[in-house]
Amino acid sequence: MFSFSEQKNFFGRRCVWVNGPVIVGAGPSGLAISACLRDQGIPFVVIERSDCIASLWQKRTYDRLKLHLPKKFCQLPKIPFPGDYPEYPTKKQFIAYLENYAKKFDIKPQFNECVESAKYDEACKLWRVKTVSTTGSIRVETEYICQMLVVATGENAEGVIPEIEGLEEFSGEVIHAKDYKSGEKYEGKKVLVVGCGNSGMEVSLDLSNHHAKPSMVVRSSVHVLPREILGKSTFDLAMMLMKWLPLWIVDKILLIFAWFMIGNTQRYGIKRPYLGPLTLKNNHGKTPVLDIGTLEKIRSGDITVVPGIKRFTEKTVELVNGDILEIDSVVLATGYFSNVPFWLHEKEFFAENGFPKTPFPNGWKGKGGLYAAGFTRRGLAGATADAIKISKDIGKEWKKELNHKKQKVPTHRRCISTF
Ligand SMILES: Cc1cc2nc3c(=O)[nH]c(=O)nc-3n(C[C@H](O)[C@H](O)[C@H](O)COP(=O)(O)OP(=O)(O)OC[C@H]3O[C@@H](n4cnc5c(N)ncnc54)[C@H](O)[C@@H]3O)c2cc1C
Ligand SMILES: NC(=O)c1ccc[n+]([C@@H]2O[C@H](COP(=O)([O-])OP(=O)(O)OC[C@H]3O[C@@H](n4cnc5c(N)ncnc54)[C@H](OP(=O)(O)O)[C@@H]3O)[C@@H](O)[C@H]2O)c1
Repeated sequence: MFSFSEQKNFFGRRCVWVNGPVIVGAGPSGLAISACLRDQGIPFVVIERSDCIASLWQKRTYDRLKLHLPKKFCQLPKIPFPGDYPEYPTKKQFIAYLENYAKKFDIKPQFNECVESAKYDEACKLWRVKTVSTTGSIRVETEYICQMLVVATGENAEGVIPEIEGLEEFSGEVIHAKDYKSGEKYEGKKVLVVGCGNSGMEVSLDLSNHHAKPSMVVRSSVHVLPREILGKSTFDLAMMLMKWLPLWIVDKILLIFAWFMIGNTQRYGIKRPYLGPLTLKNNHGKTPVLDIGTLEKIRSGDITVVPGIKRFTEKTVELVNGDILEIDSVVLATGYFSNVPFWLHEKEFFAENGFPKTPFPNGWKGKGGLYAAGFTRRGLAGATADAIKISKDIGKEWKKELNHKKQKVPTHRRCISTF
């Protein structure tokens, strides 16, 4: 159990001293760090804006979702997936695994508290983390004070809603992919899916499986790769080859296999980027699509690929090639962004895009006890790698602090008692 002391400050705000790090976000990254800290007997507090752990998975993903990388790359530290889980666990199985994980390590986040600001107090050498309670109509503010702050709010914290001419005039339903659950209610409807990343491809497939008529917007280019090559996961194969070969050669090998297995995607209106899939991911963070059946539906004409959008009207969309399509609904599979710049008052470690400035593998530690977990653009494997490094480092700091405390009353206690 974490120990904290609580008091009300001059303005009536609840003020909590946290003995140990504050972790913002109870997604896989926040849970993985919590587990590693619990193992070392280090107290911590996890703050989560939602009312459950892994809210991205529980509340903001569609029903048909499965992990798209083999399970060995997706398990968190210390507890492997159950032996009877399939190679690509379903969303339900992944959530059950995480729930069990949180229970085993006794991780009990402060739910329904959204971090609105976090600032390092240079004078006291402490972080001041302000939250607002998101339940009920009464606004409850809390200030957590701690020596270490772990940012684990995710790369996909908010959905990108692009500004497209006329979108507000469109009279049909417009939702972001984060609010899409299933194609069931779209049967017989003409749905425009904007975006062709993994979300756009899978939402289009799901719509088609439910007998809707999806048109998928591909405005630029994307690498589509088979999920498996010669019976081995493409990701696994790429990881293996990268141990021996330079990235550009691995890219060439993957593209040759892709060519033989799925053919020339340009024939269906899906251009390949100039840079190879891994180089593009490494240099620009753009994830290749792992195909799980969408291409087949495109080939059969069940999913139509269309170019970029010019404007919407009340019932139609006009495309850049001049075509006008009548549509009933729009799903914006237009990606996500990090919300860190909106609440973290820090500009040295985090860039304006909400990701650490220093790339993987070194972007996990800033100054003054600041850490970032889950911003490596490497999914769950990246979250695990971060959790191990961060928890080890916190462990070292924790031991130093304990030795220091034995010698004298720490300065932060004196600072706090002034309000
Ligand atoms: C549809 C989809 C499918 C994916 N599939 C895979 C996959 O198969 N394999 C893979 O490796 N990766 C996948 N990913 C990437 C995914 O982001 C990671 O797998 C994983 O969820 C990252 O964990 P995280 O804890 O870093 O972030 P998140 O899971 O996003 O968790 C962050 C948590 O922080 C909370 N939070 C955010 N802001 C605040 C705030 N201000 N105050 C308090 N709490 C806050 C959020 O509510 C959330 O619970 C997928 C992503 C999406 C969108
Ligand atoms: N099964 C799975 O495991 C699974 C499923 C879904 C998602 N994910 C993961 O979740 C993360 C996010 O994926 P994502 O697909 O949601 O986002 P994404 O990869 O960022 O893709 C966003 C797409 O939207 C397009 N777009 C953005 N604005 C547009 C506009 N105004 N007009 C037309 N197109 C527009 C982009 O086109 P441009 O390229 O031209 O910008 C791109 O095709 C990725 O890491 C992904 O791997 C995993």
